[in-house]
Amino acid sequence: MSLSLPGDEQLRKNAQMRAVIKRELQTRFAPEDDALRSSITRAQAAGVPLIQISPLQGKLLQVLALTCGARKILEIGALAGYSGTWLARALPADGKLISLEVSSKHAEVARATFAAAGVSERTEVRVGSALDLLPTLMPEAPFDLIFIDADKKGYPQYLDWAVRLSRVGSLIVADNVIREGRAFQTPPPDENAAGAAAYTAKLLEHPRLVSVAFPIVTDGLSEDGEAMDGIAISVVRD
Ligand code: DHB
Ligand code: MG
Repeated sequence: MSLSLPGDEQLRKNAQMRAVIKRELQTRFAPEDDALRSSITRAQAAGVPLIQISPLQGKLLQVLALTCGARKILEIGALAGYSGTWLARALPADGKLISLEVSSKHAEVARATFAAAGVSERTEVRVGSALDLLPTLMPEAPFDLIFIDADKKGYPQYLDWAVRLSRVGSLIVADNVIREGRAFQTPPPDENAAGAAAYTAKLLEHPRLVSVAFPIVTDGLSEDGEAMDGIAISVVRD
C-alpha cells in the first residue's frame, strides 16, 4: 500500500481550515475588547514588536489564574501589556500582578495599556533585567502563577527563580517552547531555540514540577501565514 502525502492544494485547504477554526474559537471564547485591541495599536505606534500572545492564550492564562486562586501573579516580560491585561483581569480587586520588563520604553507602553484597561491599581511594571529583579522578589513570594515570556536564553534560569518564588500548587507557564520545532533539533540551531529546549529539559527532570506542553499556531510571518510555537504549563508540588 502506498503512502499518500497531501499535495499543495490540500495543505492550503488544511491551513485555511485551521484559520477558520481559530477565528471561530477566538470569537466565541476570547473576544478582545477595546483595551486589549488598543494594546496592539499602542505597541505598533511605539515600535514595540508585535509578538504578543494570542487571545486564546490570554483566555487560557485567565482560566489558569482562576483555577489556582491567583491573588499574586508574576510575569517575566511585559512587552506592551497585552498578556498582563488578560492576567490582571483574572485577579481579585486586591490582587497584584508584578510584571518585569527590561525595556523602559516597553514598560511605559505596558503601563498605558494597564491604565486603558482599568487595572493600574493591581498592576506594577518593574524595569530591569529579570535576573537582577527576581532575587528582590523573595519577600513578596509566593506567587500563585508565574508567566514566563521574555528572552528565551534566560528561560532555564527564570524557571529556577519561578520555583523559588512559588508555593505548592503554583502554576508556572512559559510561552514559546517549540519555536517551529527548532527547540527539538539536536543541537538547537539558534540561542532562542536552545533556551526553549533547555527549559523543557529542566521541566521534565524537575522533581517538583508536573508539566504539559501544547502546540500553538500563531499568525506568524512564515510564507503560509502560520508559525508553530507552544506553551508549557507546570504545577509545583511537594
Ligand atoms: C519572539 C518572542 C516571543 O515571546 C514570542 O511570543 C514570539 C517571538 C521573538 O523574540 O522572536
Ligand atoms: Mg512569547
